[in-house]
Amino acid sequence: MSRALNEIRPSLPAHWYYDDEHYQRELAAVWYRDWVCVGHRSELRRDGDYLVAKIGAQSVIITQAPDGKIRAWHNTCRHRGSLLCKESRGRFRNGRIVCPYHTWTYSTDGKLLATPGRLDADDFNHDDYSLFGVHVAGWKGFIFVNLSDTPKESLDTFLGAEKLYLANWPIESMHSVHREVITVNCNWKLFWENYSECYHCPRLHPELCKVMPVYREAVFDDADLPGWKPRFEGDRGFGRVADGASTWTMDGKTASPDLKGLSEEEREIGVVFSSVNGSMYVVGHPDYVRSVRIVPQGPEQIELVVDWMLPEDFGEVSDDLIEHITGLAKLVIRQDGEACELNQQGLKSPRFEQGVLVPQEYPLWDFHEWLRQRLNDL
Ligand code: FES
Ligand SMILES: [Fe+2]
Repeated sequence: MSRALNEIRPSLPAHWYYDDEHYQRELAAVWYRDWVCVGHRSELRRDGDYLVAKIGAQSVIITQAPDGKIRAWHNTCRHRGSLLCKESRGRFRNGRIVCPYHTWTYSTDGKLLATPGRLDADDFNHDDYSLFGVHVAGWKGFIFVNLSDTPKESLDTFLGAEKLYLANWPIESMHSVHREVITVNCNWKLFWENYSECYHCPRLHPELCKVMPVYREAVFDDADLPGWKPRFEGDRGFGRVADGASTWTMDGKTASPDLKGLSEEEREIGVVFSSVNGSMYVVGHPDYVRSVRIVPQGPEQIELVVDWMLPEDFGEVSDDLIEHITGLAKLVIRQDGEACELNQQGLKSPRFEQGVLVPQEYPLWDFHEWLRQRLNDL
């Protein structure tokens, strides 16, 4: 990511944020080609547990097969294409995926096992009718799928440097202790753009700015401030919590032990982000982890899936602790969601054809370049 933007640049054309035809192009260029996170390993504990993820118009079953591995299948029956699972999560009884229409029955590793009723055709071979597979890979316990037949890069390459930032956080052995699913009436790019700049922070997030003083300057990172000097070797310039604060909570205090494995600097900074362009970000704090997934529902609506994670072996998690760790981010997400909805409505003015990016919005320019490249590759 460059920090070199020192001029005004154009934003994307306004109709890219509401036009259905363009939305379909973005689904094809990004959502059906890139790796998309659909949940965390801790959500599938036993063989036959499953999740169903919707990505654009596609539906994917993610399940744990008898060998303990995670597998993903298109949610469509090989007989005449019925949806196989209509719930968003559950458990396949006896490890059998049974189509609700004519009860063709599959194993959780995708094989067609049985076709009840008379099936006299001599040329019918069960092996020809396995479920359609979807590529699946993992990072720190997060499950990613890729809807392309031949993904152009591995998940590891796709995540790039972003995966390194949270290397010390023990997310593989953590699980969600609280989830919020929030509908926001805006295009997926607007939420990502909002996440990518802090130009709005002083006005929109007074509570957050108390915990993150650099945000009052309308930038994310110390490195964006004139005259910034690294404090330690390798310091890439982070926003860090205020003196006297330790984490992202309303009062900046932690109410539970620090996670194991973090460096002194990571604990001192109090917040580290890893971003997956457009679809997800994960935030490591000394005491908990928060993940936010963006799930497009149409050109003008998204669902946010927000999880607050603690170690599996944490012990009893009280309501007070949940309240404590979720309060600030819930407020900030509400503030951001309202701004994104106003943004969505306003850019539909026939007079508004295209916005401008100011210098500190350089991550938006990077995001737009990334998106233009993907659309060009279609
Ligand atoms: S469509 Fe699934 S068994 Fe007929
Ligand atoms: Fe914000």
